[in-house]
Amino acid sequence: MATLHNKTEDDITAEVLARFADTPDPRLQQIMLGLIKHLHAFVKEVALTEAEWFQAIEILTTAGHMSDDKRQEFILFSDTLGVSMVVDLISHRKPDGATESTVFGPFHRLGAPELPAGGNIADLDESGPPTLVSGRVLDLDDKPIAGALLDVWQAQTSGLYDSQDPNLREMHMRGKFRTDAEGRYLVRTVRPVHYPIPSDGPVGAMLRAAGRHPWRPAHIHFVVSADGYEPVTTHIFDRADEYLGSDAVFAVKDSLICDFVRHDAPEGEAARLGIDRPYYTTAFDFHLKPAAEQRATVLDAQQRLAALGARAAE
Ligand code: BEZ
Ligand code: FE
Repeated sequence: MATLHNKTEDDITAEVLARFADTPDPRLQQIMLGLIKHLHAFVKEVALTEAEWFQAIEILTTAGHMSDDKRQEFILFSDTLGVSMVVDLISHRKPDGATESTVFGPFHRLGAPELPAGGNIADLDESGPPTLVSGRVLDLDDKPIAGALLDVWQAQTSGLYDSQDPNLREMHMRGKFRTDAEGRYLVRTVRPVHYPIPSDGPVGAMLRAAGRHPWRPAHIHFVVSADGYEPVTTHIFDRADEYLGSDAVFAVKDSLICDFVRHDAPEGEAARLGIDRPYYTTAFDFHLKPAAEQRATVLDAQQRLAALGARAAE
């Protein structure tokens, strides 16, 4: 039984845990008890000083002030601390053959335009080499899924997303594509580049203080969804990229690495789309697993986060 006076650190931990003993929701109770246990253990292990505690409050306050509908410093913290990938691995234990997921990141935006097959998400990016990404969306038995939706986003060749560059047209480098009857999709873009994650906030300060680099290997983001299937949030990565082994957010998985093949003369789809200079192609098939239950998706969460951010930006 905890005493009222002369408490030790461990007495406080026990008392706080006891205050959550009657939490009606069992999952919430499990999370809160685990959080308190580990948080208190962490503070005791490093013997956190008052000055360090104040610094942590300052860091979180700055992260909050920086976050809105276009900037999410908390996701960036989660990503750079590896928490996002641990959550990803716990949440998506795919059966063999399903496309692996990876981090959502802070740069997805709702409202990307729907484009036809072969539509160019990078029409304002003149310096990147044209690139065609093609493939199919299939189920686990390799049957095509018609009408699947691919929500695609990518940084431009400068390394910035539209939301980071006030001179860029909103929604540049973003598009939504539907698969045809054979499950095929075709995205026109530019070859992705490696780029540094935003480092003008507390996450950047943390990386610098730790001597860590901020680079992400070249990639294209996808959320692929279809009725009756579990959506997958993922990237494809460029095999030639030098940062594949040291991604700042730990998000590379072998199965998501693709070869980008150079072509010097337009042929096939490239000729049909009027590409008249050297270009690259890459191919990737997405495999979706059937939805086991109606689960809240990352896009549901993104709707709520974007609404919260938009209010913060007002
Ligand atoms: C991204 O790829 O857009 C990204 C992911 C995690 C952190 C920062 C950026
Ligand atoms: Fe990205």
